[in-house]
Amino acid sequence: MGKIFLAGGAGYIGSHTALSLLRSGYEIVTADNYSNSSPEALNRVMELSGKTFKTYEADMTDTSAIAEIFSENEIDAVIHFAGLKAVGESVEKPLEYYRCNLDATLSLLEMMRKYSVKNIIFSSSATVYGGENPSPYREDMSRSACTNPYGWTKFMSEQIIEDTVKAEKNISAILLRYFNPVGADESGMIGEDPLGIPNNLMPCICQTAVGRREKLTIFGRDYDTPDGTCRRDYIHVSDLADGHVKALDYMLGKNSDGKIFEIFNLGTGVPYSVTEIVQTFERVNNIKLNYSYGERRAGDLPECFAEPSRANEVLSWTAKKSLEDMCRDSWNWQSKNPQGYNK
Ligand code: UD1
Repeated sequence: MGKIFLAGGAGYIGSHTALSLLRSGYEIVTADNYSNSSPEALNRVMELSGKTFKTYEADMTDTSAIAEIFSENEIDAVIHFAGLKAVGESVEKPLEYYRCNLDATLSLLEMMRKYSVKNIIFSSSATVYGGENPSPYREDMSRSACTNPYGWTKFMSEQIIEDTVKAEKNISAILLRYFNPVGADESGMIGEDPLGIPNNLMPCICQTAVGRREKLTIFGRDYDTPDGTCRRDYIHVSDLADGHVKALDYMLGKNSDGKIFEIFNLGTGVPYSVTEIVQTFERVNNIKLNYSYGERRAGDLPECFAEPSRANEVLSWTAKKSLEDMCRDSWNWQSKNPQGYNK
């Protein structure tokens, strides 16, 4: 089993992946600048797994910090979760988003080349399919124009990684395109803890249920979908984390016979509407949510869901958890941690 470096390892997806990797027998090292995450998440990962690991407080745009980590640890693969991710904020601060997210990708790749680290898995997003492809999205569709700078940073990072793999004979990459991650580890000890006002649906639902927000607005009910609200491919974060373990198993297993460049969607392939999410949350948690329907949100697509069969065929990975699990586990985390990691 190899030693895996999680860049941005204290965040929502990073911390769940850290736990899955430890449970699968991998050793890990994490780095995070904690700008939108808490070291407490990693303490809890240690508690849940019964294992310890090295954590660095470091910014992934800082090549000397990465150099230090690579020289102090024998790293077999990097999983690159580091980056800013708020879509609305990226529209207001494009330069900060391009600088941070692209610099992190470039710095990690440059230091991988320098220290002979051969493998990288990148946290990408369904957003790179853009508005021009119809759902279900398949990996062989080309990337198309994104609607915001955040999306473009994923699009451009993918291209940078692809070109680097072509040019560097020793670097392999897997791009994982996430759909809509929700839920939390079933212990309720780690979960999503967004800084400031969340804009994703599930944190908005949870914060409304716990009383941190007065009400939830469902954005638009006049879309061309079965109930008029947008449909998305929600995926439980623990299933998503297992997808990383499967991708690593594949990558490290394959690498002895040559380098790889692969792209996988990580989604369930089953879309649910906003209204279905809200109603399922209310039903499984026995909670009445204060919500109403409002205007459409700019930039939203009516539908976005995956064709997930490639990850199943090549990685033997498939999402196992149901929408009920997602809603129950999200609430389990939020109700046990009403203020997130701030207690
Ligand atoms: C967004 C981003 C995507 C990013 C993903 C994860 C866009 C166009 N896409 O996806 O690039 O990878 O987040 O961070 O921004 N909704 C409400 N009320 C709310 C909040 C959300 O009705 O208060 C609806 C939205 O209109 C949407 C659905 O819930 O239909 C999901 O929204 P959200 O969780 O923000 O994810 P996406 O927009 O799908």
